[in-house]
Amino acid sequence: MERAGQVRTIIECKNLGKTFDTKETHLEVLKNLNLSVRENEFVVLLGPGQCGKTTLMNIIAGIQQPTEGEVIFNGEKITKPNPRLGVVYQTTGLFPWFNVMHNVDFGPRMKHMPRSERLAKAQHFIDLVGLTGFEKSFPIHLSGGMRQRVGIARAYCNDPEVLLMDEPFGHLDAQTRYSMQEAIEQIWSQEKRTVIFITNNIEEAVYLADRVVLLTNCPTCVKDEVIVDLPRPRNYVDKEFLRLREQIGELFESTK
Ligand SMILES: Nc1ncnc2c1ncn2[C@@H]1O[C@H](COP(=O)(O)OP(=O)(O)OP(=O)(O)O)[C@@H](O)[C@H]1O
Ligand SMILES: [Mg+2]
Repeated sequence: MERAGQVRTIIECKNLGKTFDTKETHLEVLKNLNLSVRENEFVVLLGPGQCGKTTLMNIIAGIQQPTEGEVIFNGEKITKPNPRLGVVYQTTGLFPWFNVMHNVDFGPRMKHMPRSERLAKAQHFIDLVGLTGFEKSFPIHLSGGMRQRVGIARAYCNDPEVLLMDEPFGHLDAQTRYSMQEAIEQIWSQEKRTVIFITNNIEEAVYLADRVVLLTNCPTCVKDEVIVDLPRPRNYVDKEFLRLREQIGELFESTK
């Protein structure tokens, strides 16, 4: 379904297949996977454990190559990692020897952006993720949720067109997870980007997504999709929210 203002396709996965072959095993992880993502859309990929979500994310990011098919980004085939595609993982991979500011301004620093400009830019994203005052803190002194905030600010500071997030809140406790969902929703509303967000949490999917794409068990492909057309920010106990959660929950159970 095309909606006003969201018509340009930015990412297209065409007939993706991926197998891992070793001497002993032949593992088919992706099979005939097709997916189109529109500019500024927030797409949540909801898939069961071990179905191939991270493999799919790595292929979209250009970190791994598919065995079959291709990923088209802005009309061009992805063959290697591209800074226009930012990735946020479950564990943040922050540089422990850099403070928050220097973790966030790492990308612009590598691109030799003038100091005052990059510090201002990093500060903007540090403020946006709610870490004002922690600029000089080192990752070891931050909670898990705060580290994820730094990871998100760092990804944004690279000016990606598309943000790929692979279960970024998977390691967080339930309360922190809720506050991170609210944070990412606020950031996305202010700094519109295309987001492809992976989770196996149905409530998280309904809270964040414009569209939930359901993936099957391994070898994974797209099983179904549900448009979430609720006003933002959403309310976890709203009647319509609960109805969609149940509907998607039933579809999700049938993919397993
Ligand atoms: N480089 C690799 N070589 C061999 N097998 C691999 C490789 N990477 C992933 N696999 C296998 O592919 C399958 C899918 O892995 P993947 O990490 O993509 O799934 P996932 O859905 O992200 O899992 P999780 O829910 O644990 O995050 C798993 O069985 C995994 O062991
Ligand atoms: Mg994974």
